[in-house]
Amino acid sequence: MNEVLARVPIDPSTMAETPAALDASPESDPDRLRWFPKGTHITIRGLTKTFDDVVLYKDFDLDIPKGKVVSVFGPNGCGKSTLINMISGILEFDSGQILFDGKTARETRIGYVFQNYREAVFPWSRAIDNIRYPLQFLGLSKAERDARVEELLTSFDVKIDLNRYPYELSGGQQQLVSIMRALVVDPEVLFLDEPFSALDYEMTLFLRDRLQKVLTEREVTTLLVSHDLDEAVTLADEILLLTKKPTQVAERLQFNASRPRTPETTLTDEFIAVKSRSLEIFQREVRK
Ligand SMILES: Nc1ncnc2c1ncn2[C@@H]1O[C@H](COP(=O)(O)OP(=O)(O)O)[C@@H](O)[C@H]1O
Ligand SMILES: [Mg+2]
Repeated sequence: MNEVLARVPIDPSTMAETPAALDASPESDPDRLRWFPKGTHITIRGLTKTFDDVVLYKDFDLDIPKGKVVSVFGPNGCGKSTLINMISGILEFDSGQILFDGKTARETRIGYVFQNYREAVFPWSRAIDNIRYPLQFLGLSKAERDARVEELLTSFDVKIDLNRYPYELSGGQQQLVSIMRALVVDPEVLFLDEPFSALDYEMTLFLRDRLQKVLTEREVTTLLVSHDLDEAVTLADEILLLTKKPTQVAERLQFNASRPRTPETTLTDEFIAVKSRSLEIFQREVRK
């Protein structure tokens, strides 16, 4: 649990040096929620969400570190998708506050990759136009837009014909398009909800590899939901383990293996130790 962040006065010396943090002291600031520790990107305070009288989150606090990949893992139906949907601004919540370096989701560049790529890519647009699509909202010149796309295509080393329409592409290729569309805006924060669960192993390895490369180069704060524990650990700097609902953080585990992580990473002692611990916590929570 993030004890440091519990509802106690916070030591100002550990505060991030943002205008929000410098302008007030924790005692005088009625909006204590704008205070957050250094290195934090996303701060969630007092989050409450209920569906049809079922309390999913109640007074939920969480801090997500800046520029790291955090894997979200937990029991089926505990609210992993709901959590990232609330953080990304797709889904409303009942009460609480979510801020990105003190900013709202609307003031933050966000990328989102859905599990179901078939519903996420635009069937009427060629692959390249799908990828370019979000750039029109950023007020960039044509040269800048072209440079963004070019840079991304180079990073992903794309071999497919991007003039094709989604129906002419395999599922993996459609998800590749969807991932590039999320990255083209150069997001500060990227959300991925089980992005590889419907893909074959070869495509999964390819996409994980390219995605990791871009995320580490650009230091994108990333929240990845995965039901595959090997994948969750392999890609993560931190594994966020959730309880059953009403959902709380069961534990946060660090995984510091060097990058790029590959299938061989799963054979290392460090990986096995983190995975075993994750599994132990997961099983404890499921049995509760
Ligand atoms: N729009 C909704 N209306 C009612 N209940 C919902 C809705 N979305 C999710 N839920 C419920 O909230 C819980 C968490 O859902 P979800 O976040 O999709 O779980 P996870 O992604 O962890 O499997 C589930 O019990 C689900 O049935
Ligand atoms: Mg889900």
